Amino acid sequence: MNNISLPDLNKARFRSAGYKAEIIRNALDLNDVQRNLGSGLNYHVITYGCQANVRDGEVISGILEEMGYAHTELLEEADIIILNTCAIRENAEKRVIGEIGFLQNYKRIKPSLILGLCGCMAQEDVIVKQIMEMFPSVQLIFGTHNIFELPKLIENILVNNEKSVKVYSRQGNIYEGLPSVRTSPFKASINIMDGCDKFCTYCIVPYTRGQQRSRLREDVLSEARQLVSAGYKEIMLLGQNVNAYGKDLSSDNGDFARLLAEVAETGIPRIRFMTSHPWDFTDEMVDAIAKYDNIMPFVHLPLQSGSNSVLKRMGRRYTNDEYIALFDKLKSKVNELAVSTDIIVGFPDETDEDFEDTLKIVEYCKYDNAYSFIFSPRPGTPAAKMTDSIPMEVKKERLQRLNGRLAYYSKMNNLKWEGRTVEVLIDGPSKNNPTVYSGYTPQSKLINFTLKEGQIGDIINVKVTEGRKNSLNGEQE
Ligand code: SAH
Ligand code: SF4
Ligand code: F3S
Repeated sequence: MNNISLPDLNKARFRSAGYKAEIIRNALDLNDVQRNLGSGLNYHVITYGCQANVRDGEVISGILEEMGYAHTELLEEADIIILNTCAIRENAEKRVIGEIGFLQNYKRIKPSLILGLCGCMAQEDVIVKQIMEMFPSVQLIFGTHNIFELPKLIENILVNNEKSVKVYSRQGNIYEGLPSVRTSPFKASINIMDGCDKFCTYCIVPYTRGQQRSRLREDVLSEARQLVSAGYKEIMLLGQNVNAYGKDLSSDNGDFARLLAEVAETGIPRIRFMTSHPWDFTDEMVDAIAKYDNIMPFVHLPLQSGSNSVLKRMGRRYTNDEYIALFDKLKSKVNELAVSTDIIVGFPDETDEDFEDTLKIVEYCKYDNAYSFIFSPRPGTPAAKMTDSIPMEVKKERLQRLNGRLAYYSKMNNLKWEGRTVEVLIDGPSKNNPTVYSGYTPQSKLINFTLKEGQIGDIINVKVTEGRKNSLNGEQE
C-alpha cells in the first residue's frame, strides 16, 4: 500500500454543493491476518477533546478488539498506545506534544510498542510534519475520516515493518456498523452527524471534521432502540451543531426536532443533546424539549460573545438580542431549564465595550454552568489572520473577571436546589471519597450523595443538602 499520505488543511475548507455523503455499511472487512494481529497483545487509547472524540475512541477500541487486542489500563503493558487528539486550542495541542514526548520512555523500554496519533490534530498538516520530525518513533498516524482503515494500517506496520501515515482531508462518508466498546453500560452517546459547515471564523472543526454529514434517522433510531433493549438509561445525541441535523439529507428524513421526538418515543429514561447553536434553534425543537419528560431540561447554548460586532466577525449569525429572545423562549417554555454556555474572550481587537457587552449577557442569563476560553488563533482559520491589538495581559484580566461572575451564578443556581429532591442517575463512587456516590441531576448538575440502597446505573431520589460552586451535595431519600 501507499503508506504515507499527509493532510492538507487548505483542501479541507472546500465544500461541494449538494454533496450527499455515501453510507458505507461494511467498511470493516477484516481478513484472517488482521483478525489475529492483536492476539496476545494489549491496547490503550488516550482521548482528548469533545464528546465526538470520545465516541471515536470507543470505535477505535472496538476495532482493536476485533483484531484480537485486549484493553489495558497500564501504559507499561500496552503494545499499542493511540492518542486521540483535539485541535481546538493551542494548549490542547501542546499537551499532546508533551504526552508523546513522555511516551517515548515506554517505546525505549519496549521497542515493539506502536505509538499512534489520530483525531483532529492528525488533520493538521503543520502538526503532522512537526510530529514526524520531532518523534520519528511515531509509526501510526490516521485522521478523523479513516478510522475504519486502522486494521490495514496496523498490518502494514507489523507485517511490512513500515510506517503508516494516512490522513484524508476531504473524504466525507458515513460509516455504519463499526464495532465499538462503550465506556459505560448505562450512559451512551450516539453520533447523529459528523462535520460542520458553519465555519465560525475562529474554529478549526470544519477543517478537521469535514463537511456536515447526517446519519439517516432510521439508523440513529435503530441504535437508540438497541441501547434501550440493552438496558441503557441515558442517550446523548451528538453533533457539532445538532440544529442543522438532516439539512444535508432529503426532507422526508426530517429535522432534529423530529429526531429528538422519535428518540424520546423509544422510552429511554434520559435524553441529552450537544451542541445546539443559537442560530437555527427552531420552535419545534423548543416544543419537543418542553413536551417530553425524558428529554432532560438542560441546554448548552454557546454565546461566544455578547457584542454584536464581535459576533459578526466570528461569523456566528445571531445578534445579542436574538440570543436573549431564544434564551427567554426556552426558559418560559421548558420547566426548570438549566442553561450552560461557552464564551471566548480576547477575540482579535475585542474592545472593553465589547467585553462589557458579554458581561451584560452573563448578568442577564445567570448561567448554570459555563466554559470560558481565551481566543487561540488556529492555523488556516480567518480569525488567525485578523489584526489584534489586545495584549495577552488584558485578555487574562478579562477572563478572570468573567470567571468570577460565572462562578457566582453557578453557585447561586446551585443554592436554589437546597432542600429539594432531585432524580439522580448513579454514576459510581465519587472521585474523592469512595463511600460517597456521584451522579447527575436532570439539569446536568453533578451531585455527591450518600447511598442507602441501589446500585450504579439506577435512577434514585436524592435530597439536596448543599449547593456548592460546581456541584451539589445530598443524601438518598
Ligand atoms: N460546535 C460547538 C463548539 C465546539 S468547540 C458550537 O458551535 O457550539 C467548543 C468551544 O470551544 C466553542 O464553543 C468555543 O467557545 C471554543 N473554541 C473554539 N475555537 C476556539 C478558539 N480558536 N479559541 C478559543 N476557544 C475556541
Ligand atoms: Fe466550530 Fe462554529 Fe462549527 Fe461549532 S458551529 S464546530 S464553533 S464552526
Ligand atoms: Fe477538539 Fe476535534 Fe472535538 S478539535 S473539540 S476533538 S471536533
